[in-house]
Amino acid sequence: MKPSDLKAPFPWNARKVMLEDRILYAPTRCETYDDFAFPGWSAPELFGNENPIEIEYCSGNGAWIASKALAFPHINWVAVEKKFERVRKIWSKIKNHNLPNLIAVCGEAFLTTRRYFPTGSFAMAYINFPDPWPKKRHAKHRLIRPEFVNEVSRILQPNGCFTLVTDDPDYSRRMIGEMTRHQAFASRYSEPYFVTEMDGYGDSYFDSLWRSQGRIIRYHQFQKQ
Ligand SMILES: C[S@@+](CC[C@H](N)C(=O)[O-])C[C@H]1O[C@@H](n2cnc3c(N)ncnc32)[C@H](O)[C@@H]1O
Repeated sequence: MKPSDLKAPFPWNARKVMLEDRILYAPTRCETYDDFAFPGWSAPELFGNENPIEIEYCSGNGAWIASKALAFPHINWVAVEKKFERVRKIWSKIKNHNLPNLIAVCGEAFLTTRRYFPTGSFAMAYINFPDPWPKKRHAKHRLIRPEFVNEVSRILQPNGCFTLVTDDPDYSRRMIGEMTRHQAFASRYSEPYFVTEMDGYGDSYFDSLWRSQGRIIRYHQFQKQ
């Protein structure tokens, strides 16, 4: 299956929240989002089992999470990505590798989480190379901000970890600030609160790209208390 084999399920002016063929569509500007009742992760049209679930935000083309889903079939995986063109690439990996344990969510990370994901849904959460918004006047667009961290805390189970990966030192400082300020989380690493290698963590598109350019990658990991 090619990414382009996935057709948009609705025209833009008829957008709605819906579940179809391993994808939860959750358009941001959609007046009918309250009409959708999330069926629960174990519903047959989602995972159809009670296995533990791990979530990756900002999945891009899904390289990292698809390889995890392949390597760990008894874990269920949720990839959240706002751009439909990239969700298509995740979908083609689900199809081509036959991954019943991977669901893509086509939606904005914070809003989708707040609207639909039940409290205590996830064993682990990850975010790999979120857009860094390096200009000062754009920093307000960064996803790692208090209301999002609150949501991640809500959806994680006790002792669950939130792993954040970036090559951007300024964003790394912001991540550390937001996460250490949050009372529910404690860093698994002592100062400077990150490591630059994590064996077996896996590769994403941006991970490979930045490494090939010699950039240093920072891994942060915070455990819910
Ligand atoms: C720099 S790319 C990283 C992609 C992938 N994680 C990787 O490492 O190759 C950031 C991705 O996050 C997505 N993204 C940015 N903000 C988002 C948000 N608020 N909700 C969902 N996805 C978002 C972008 O569309 C883009 O695909």
